[in-house]
Amino acid sequence: MDNQHSTRLKVLDLVPFGQADPLHHFYALRLARPAWTQWEPGQFIMIRPDSFGLEIPWGRPLGICQLNQRHLICFFQVVGRGTQKLAELKIGEEVTVWGPLGHGFNIEDDTQTLLLAGGMGIVPFVGYVYSHPKPWNLTMLFGHRAPLDCYPVDTIKERIALDTLRETVPGDLDNLIFNLEERIHDLADQNGLVLACGPRPFLKTVQNFALKFNVRAQLSLENRMACGVGACLGCVTQTTEKWPEAEHADSYVQVCTKGPVFWAHQITL
Ligand SMILES: Cc1cc2nc3c(=O)[nH]c(=O)nc-3n(C[C@H](O)[C@H](O)[C@H](O)COP(=O)(O)OP(=O)(O)OC[C@H]3O[C@@H](n4cnc5c(N)ncnc54)[C@H](O)[C@@H]3O)c2cc1C
Ligand code: FES
Repeated sequence: MDNQHSTRLKVLDLVPFGQADPLHHFYALRLARPAWTQWEPGQFIMIRPDSFGLEIPWGRPLGICQLNQRHLICFFQVVGRGTQKLAELKIGEEVTVWGPLGHGFNIEDDTQTLLLAGGMGIVPFVGYVYSHPKPWNLTMLFGHRAPLDCYPVDTIKERIALDTLRETVPGDLDNLIFNLEERIHDLADQNGLVLACGPRPFLKTVQNFALKFNVRAQLSLENRMACGVGACLGCVTQTTEKWPEAEHADSYVQVCTKGPVFWAHQITL
């Protein structure tokens, strides 16, 4: 990894979310503020606690949930070995962090912007909603499977109207897809902007509707990553002929350095 961007940050606290639900393990991780001079919502960090040792050679990518004068907040769900070790961090322990990495979402002050999040795809929108100078131009739809209190929704709800749809039975997915189509369609007349983050099938659905209604859309991909800085080619995604650099059109680019945020018409999912 590129040591130029690496820093050691102290854990300030680790707060479990929605622990009434024993099936899901979600945590807000608050780290001491890094000495970054700027960042964009949608960028991410690679995080590596010392406890990864020899067992887990690479860090793990996490979205930047919020950054202020005092701290950097990430939010994660335990899904495997790495995130389990993150859930075992202790206050005062130090972790290695690389960042801010990649490119973030467009912020267009006066554009009607629709935020679409699926599951952990909510993370970058916490910082986005906070950073946007005119939050009254933002609306948001959040599709999720775990109970709502598992996710960092409170800071979003303070600033914008947040609509949520929980998926518990198969019919709920149809309802979510119907809502996505309707809302993206509504933006077509307003030269609006759609920003989406979530699992691949969710992004694919958003991409299809954005292309169908000719609405500008950016998608944030969560491909598996190893190095996080463009060195291993472990995270590539396919581009279309619309990719702006001719040498990479209809080819592959690294999500960690060219993304994770992409224009919907420039990639194939
Ligand atoms: C740019 C980016 C930002 C991300 N932001 C967040 C975030 O803010 N919060 C968060 O909780 N997660 C986020 N992720 C996903 C997170 O990085 C993975 O969940 C994590 O790396 C899994 O590590 P692990 O060692 O616990 O799991 P592993 O033991 O490596 O894998 C366990 C299981 O998780 C699956 N998995 C691993 N990586 C991913 C992935 N990227 N997407 C979907 N499934 C995966 C594996 O297929 C496997 O089934 C982000 C990923 C990317 C690329
Ligand atoms: S994760 Fe290594 S190139 Fe992207």
